[in-house]
Amino acid sequence: MSFVPAGVLLRAAQSGGYAVGAFNFNNLEILQAIVRAAEAEKAPVILQATPGAIRYAGLDYLAALARAAAKNAAVPLALHLDHGTDPGLVEECVRAGFSSVMIDGSKLPLEKNIALTRQVLEVARRAGVSVEAELGRISGTEDEITVAEREALFTDPEEARFFVEQTGVDSLAVAVGTAHGVYRGEPRLDLERLSKIRELVPVPLVLHGSSGVPDDAIREAIARGVQKINIDTDIRLAFLGAVRQALTEKPGEIDPRKILSPAREAAVEVVRKKIRLFGSAGKAG
Ligand code: 13P
Repeated sequence: MSFVPAGVLLRAAQSGGYAVGAFNFNNLEILQAIVRAAEAEKAPVILQATPGAIRYAGLDYLAALARAAAKNAAVPLALHLDHGTDPGLVEECVRAGFSSVMIDGSKLPLEKNIALTRQVLEVARRAGVSVEAELGRISGTEDEITVAEREALFTDPEEARFFVEQTGVDSLAVAVGTAHGVYRGEPRLDLERLSKIRELVPVPLVLHGSSGVPDDAIREAIARGVQKINIDTDIRLAFLGAVRQALTEKPGEIDPRKILSPAREAAVEVVRKKIRLFGSAGKAG
């Protein structure tokens, strides 16, 4: 099986009233965990890598690992660039076989964000690759993208409508109160704003910073029209928690596989739970 454009998965989610999980990976074990979880739940999933993940593992390695996963996978998989800011890297990802890219111009003034998104769309369209853009600032730390919380700006619904009309982008990431990384307090989503955006914007909506958001808020966000939900931190926490536990229990262990196998299992469990929460279990088609 080859990668499916994320737009195809997200439009199916939009008509089916559920959300597709987009899970970040930067190594073999986390990738395997995501795919095993998706297969166990018979769910479509989006595998995503940030520019930081690409610098860590290398684009060719990540793309080859994901291709190996897709070759034998029993469920539809998309391969997505998360938080791309450089059109050059977008082109490299398209050439490497990614089926979806995000171009994050959210730090730019509106007109520049529109121009950058259009530029990426031109390249992506020729290759049949989906494009996600972002409007409004999502606070927190995501690899190298750090936006001080005080600077964070929520997405303006009218501006979102204008942005999507002007660009023709496939999906839109919105800022409605989530943040990347570990929350200090309980996140409070601006659900009214989300509903307003949904009314005005026809394309699938994306929720970043979804780790640590209470299940009820996630369900409500899906009911109000979110179709892609990004999860990175909750996988990292489970993976490293299991690594710490294994190292403590087996201080003399010299085989990395004995430490990484339980970590991979812990990641599978987290991803399975998220898939069920998002309503995408059994939607592999
Ligand atoms: P978390 O840090 O909340 O997992 O968010 C991940 C994300 O939005 C990736 O783009």
